[in-house]
Amino acid sequence: MAIATRFSLFLFLTFLFTLSPVSAWDWIQNPAVNGGQDDGWQSLPELPGAQLITDWPVPGTSSVMPVYQSAGLDTSRVTRAIIVPGAKARDHWSYWVTMQNIKMDFASTNSSFDPNTTSILTPCFLAEQDIEAGAGKPDQLYWGKTSWFGGYYTKGPNADDKISSFDVLDSLVDYYTNETMYPNMQTVIFAGHSAAAQFFQRYAAVRQPTKNDDRVNYIIANPGSYLWLVQDRPAQNSSCPDVDEYKYGLNNGLPGYSTGDYSRIGRDGIVSRYLGRNVHYALGTNDNGPGDTQCQALTQGSTHLERGNNFIAMLKALPDGMPSQHTVDMIEGVSHQNDQMFNSTQLRQRLFKDVSTTTSAGTPQTTQNNANTSSKNNGALSSKLISSGSLGIAMTLVLGGLSL
Ligand SMILES: *[C@@H]1O[C@H](CO)[C@@H](O)[C@H](O)[C@H]1NC(C)=O
Ligand SMILES: *[C@@H]1O[C@H](CO)[C@@H](O)[C@H](O)[C@H]1NC(C)=O
Ligand SMILES: *[C@@H]1O[C@H](CO)[C@@H](O)[C@H](O)[C@H]1NC(C)=O
Ligand SMILES: *[C@@H]1O[C@H](CO)[C@@H](O)[C@H](O)[C@H]1NC(C)=O
Ligand SMILES: *[C@@H]1O[C@H](CO)[C@@H](O)[C@H](O)[C@H]1NC(C)=O
Ligand SMILES: *[C@@H]1O[C@H](CO)[C@@H](O)[C@H](O)[C@H]1NC(C)=O
Repeated sequence: MAIATRFSLFLFLTFLFTLSPVSAWDWIQNPAVNGGQDDGWQSLPELPGAQLITDWPVPGTSSVMPVYQSAGLDTSRVTRAIIVPGAKARDHWSYWVTMQNIKMDFASTNSSFDPNTTSILTPCFLAEQDIEAGAGKPDQLYWGKTSWFGGYYTKGPNADDKISSFDVLDSLVDYYTNETMYPNMQTVIFAGHSAAAQFFQRYAAVRQPTKNDDRVNYIIANPGSYLWLVQDRPAQNSSCPDVDEYKYGLNNGLPGYSTGDYSRIGRDGIVSRYLGRNVHYALGTNDNGPGDTQCQALTQGSTHLERGNNFIAMLKALPDGMPSQHTVDMIEGVSHQNDQMFNSTQLRQRLFKDVSTTTSAGTPQTTQNNANTSSKNNGALSSKLISSGSLGIAMTLVLGGLSL
């Protein structure tokens, strides 16, 4: 009797495990790093699954960049590259970890997605303080604390080299679209949140064209301000100076990377270039933080969300309306959190499945449905030892009950 019961339990469990071979990904934690954005970070930590490359070459200089890159991939099988730097705090490693977690989580729920086809690269834009505190080395490029995400030239080691942070992005596109190494590359995605979204939105406008532009995508999530395309602002302020100067506008003051270009093709040329690029806006519908509080940013709106909505309204009001290459995702219930933005239903889809889901009519898709991921999982959050299938559902119910 007892043996028969145990045997049926054994059969039952065997049955369940046979049904559900896939385990959800165990989110790895962000490592703790000493130092901080003000006094400088003291190290770039090793990350499981990544190679920390400390001497990534940049054309035009003998100085180098530190980058994290997915380790051990067969480059001939890679079809997609995601470039994801950190934001204003320069805790770049944590963005590589977050993107890796989302990739592996996605792979754990979809057996036709091979995670080895997607390379994640995090360029580490450092400030002088990071070199001094120990995260950087003397031969590595460094910028001012905020100038890297404006596209300006490095402060060192050799400022005379005139290397823009945009030049670094150019070199990453050139690297991933090199057919000798990556014969099957289909998509290069710049994924930026907050300061990195500012960086990529401006890059999308000024990037010098190459034959690879149709494969380059820019995800712009919750930037603190935009490079505005027209002279008018939604919240005019006549006592605020230089509202239309770079980095807020296009009247003047463009960084060295694009001064030559700008004098040749002018404002209209830059705008039409931007409108033709694959730009994907993502706005957290709870992102009511003020972000940049300079008066120039405030003329674009008073919060991240308001600026985003105003920018999209500005695009729709252009003579040709919303550009067909641009998409908008509203991420319900999420505030200024990069992990919740990138892990939303919409951005998981863009990052790992189909980056440019525009409708056939050429009008951009504005999505509004999203599983609310912001509630119980708090970003750095961890381990779900849940397998899919019926046992998984049972355990989810139990765990879900406990976490309420
Ligand atoms: C699973 O991944 C494949 C390969 O990337 C993709 O084509 C498919 O749409 C994905 N399915 C789901 C349900 O996400
Ligand atoms: C991906 O590559 C790793 C390391 O080479 C390997 O262990 C793993 O089996 C690969 N995964 C797939 C789905 O091919
Ligand atoms: C492409 O990569 C190969 C191998 O690394 C290299 O020899 C070649 O110079 C690269 N081509 C370009 C245009 O950078
Ligand atoms: C307008 O700009 C001035 C000058 O910077 C600033 O003092 C003021 O606060 C701004 N007003 C608003 C509503 O942002
Ligand atoms: C999403 O979850 C957060 C945190 O629990 C909550 O504040 C917010 O209202 C939710 N949003 C939606 C659309 O359910
Ligand atoms: C990321 O999204 C997936 C799918 O919605 C979810 O299962 C997972 O819990 C999320 N992770 C975090 C840390 O939000």
